[in-house]
Amino acid sequence: MRVASTIPEMKCLRREISGTLGFVPTMGYLHEGHLSLVRQARAENSVVVASIFVNPTQFGPKEDFKTYPRDPKHDLALLESEKTDIVFMPSDVEMYPQGYSSWVTVENITEMLEGSCRPGHFKGVTTVVAKLFNIVEPNKAYFGQKDFQQATVIRKMVIDLNMNLEIVVAPTIREKNGLAMSSRNAYLNPQERQAAAVLYQALTQAQQIRRKGQKDAEYIRREMYTLIGREPLAKIEYISIADAVTLEELATIDRPAVASLAVRFGKTRLIDNVILE
Ligand code: PAJ
Repeated sequence: MRVASTIPEMKCLRREISGTLGFVPTMGYLHEGHLSLVRQARAENSVVVASIFVNPTQFGPKEDFKTYPRDPKHDLALLESEKTDIVFMPSDVEMYPQGYSSWVTVENITEMLEGSCRPGHFKGVTTVVAKLFNIVEPNKAYFGQKDFQQATVIRKMVIDLNMNLEIVVAPTIREKNGLAMSSRNAYLNPQERQAAAVLYQALTQAQQIRRKGQKDAEYIRREMYTLIGREPLAKIEYISIADAVTLEELATIDRPAVASLAVRFGKTRLIDNVILE
């Protein structure tokens, strides 16, 4: 496994590659969710590149950029054991040198859900991902369903800007109690971690209600509010039943939909979602 910490180094390694390149962008502090993406990339490509970069521009001024968990040594050991070929691990100034002033913005679908709670977040995500795509030049890039709005926004960017790669979205990996794996779960104390299981319970309840034929989105939202509302440690930011393509809130579930939520447990903000067939 090679580690590139500068853009010229990464571009130089890229030039030596023949066959398909599968790319897994991450912010590190890797868990089974990240590793599932690496495994899928490994199975589908000749060469696998992962990146570890805690991207400052996607964090709001009051968010957890400084305290975001980091453990690069452990991350590298995990990536090595998954047979990653190259890890791109740039510094902040390598990606954003003095005077940096170019941004990629996707409109509309970035305004709701995470976009409304975290203004500017997706501008940071699309900018860094576009930069990473230009540096790594992947044939396929792998993203998790866990951040379904992020995956939707990146797909839209790739289509709108005619980027020459395929976006693959892989299923959410969960703990035994249903909690979606996330680097931010490290912030949870044991009581919060246990309480956070209510999120997946609410999402699976939504799926069950839908499967029984319920089409009234507000009815399902209310059921989710009630279940999560019973958990004293949970503070709901949003609960959404939206069109899976446009991300617009639905009144009637008459097309592919996604149930998603953002809920705080103490200082930890968690997001999760499921598809409603
Ligand atoms: P990060 O949160 O580190 O996630 C990296 C990738 O892992 C994302 O595609 C995310 O959706 C996926 N992932 C996270 N938890 C997962 C889980 N439980 N199951 C499956 N996949 C999971 O998302 C980012 O970093 C950043 O925004 C990034 C795209 C790297 C841009 O900075």
